[in-house]
Amino acid sequence: MTAATSASSATVHFSRGIPPLEAIPSAAIAELTGSILASEPDRVFQYAPIGHHTGDRELRDQLGLFHTVDPDRVFVTNGSLQALDLLAAHLLKDAPGKKVLAEAPTYDRAVQIFERHGGQVSGIPLRHDGLDLDVLRERLQAEVPAFVYVIPDFQNPAGVTTSEEKRRELVRLSAEFGFTILEDIPYRELRFAGTAPTLLGELADSVDGARVLTIGSLSKVLSPGLRVGYVIGAPGTPRALAALAESTYLSPAPLLQAVAARAFASGLVRRNIDEVRDLLRPRHDAAVEAVRKSLGDVALCVPEGGYYISVHLPVRSPEEKFLAAAADEGIALTRGSAFYPADSAPPSGTVFLRLPFQALGGEEFAEGVARLAAVAQRPE
Ligand SMILES: Cc1ncc(COP(=O)(O)O)c(C=O)c1O
Repeated sequence: MTAATSASSATVHFSRGIPPLEAIPSAAIAELTGSILASEPDRVFQYAPIGHHTGDRELRDQLGLFHTVDPDRVFVTNGSLQALDLLAAHLLKDAPGKKVLAEAPTYDRAVQIFERHGGQVSGIPLRHDGLDLDVLRERLQAEVPAFVYVIPDFQNPAGVTTSEEKRRELVRLSAEFGFTILEDIPYRELRFAGTAPTLLGELADSVDGARVLTIGSLSKVLSPGLRVGYVIGAPGTPRALAALAESTYLSPAPLLQAVAARAFASGLVRRNIDEVRDLLRPRHDAAVEAVRKSLGDVALCVPEGGYYISVHLPVRSPEEKFLAAAADEGIALTRGSAFYPADSAPPSGTVFLRLPFQALGGEEFAEGVARLAAVAQRPE
């Protein structure tokens, strides 16, 4: 570490997108859990019902209310990662070619899951307002994929939100070419400014032949430890997923689903969303300002919510060397190229960096990006 940075130099962690502890209402969740244990221990310590079981009845009712959909369209999973896993198993089983299209960059764990199920994941460039639809159209003409995976709100890792116009076109393309869209929305509620574009799933309801499956999660709005995620689809999808679930783990834990249901019914989820927005908004604003000041005009977009701002940073050295130099300066980063499907990459001469701001105070974030700027400017 150089003398310039050693004075202020605890490591700045730009490495993980997990909620800060102060965003999880642990005491309130513990209280709800206590009341469930007191009132219905027999139910939550027994197996869930078997045979086409799609999740705790009350939780599905609450999710139906939250999203204004019929609860029969909801299937509950152990976190949205399991939703991705079951959907990949379901959609890739008989798919010829096993092609999957995803944003480049995208959520790396999703790519790993799709590949584990035999998916051949190909990247479509992500612009400041969503997928590059010209490239997507060309690819669709060459081969119709099993599905297209998108994270349309405050994307992980890029922070990008897909515009209303692109959403409408994506849904239209789904109907025209006959492919399914998976929209993954864990950050959607964490909007700090502006108004939310329409859910793809909602748009699909009025486009004949369009197929969208929406994947939600309580990890960023209540607690990741509850491991509650869900899928919203046409009723046939919950039934197919229930069959997959029953042949492996039966159901998510009844206790945790009951806690989640109570958290919705008592208003805790809504309250916590408001509190998390208030907590993260100043961190977001400080991060946007710090990136502009220290790194210039390199952000992929100015996010209006979520956890991430990201950059294509011009550098003089290869990624591995850059990351090693950054680590020497006390900056912990995730390897940006890992967010790109194997056939895609950041623009040449740049590294892609995801900079999560949700757990960092403004000063700490600014210190981190100032260090990054210094590393980037060094001769090779
Ligand atoms: C886009 C995206 N999908 C899914 C997940 C996994 O969430 P869960 O905790 O619900 O499994 C994450 C977690 O960071 C994510 O960013």
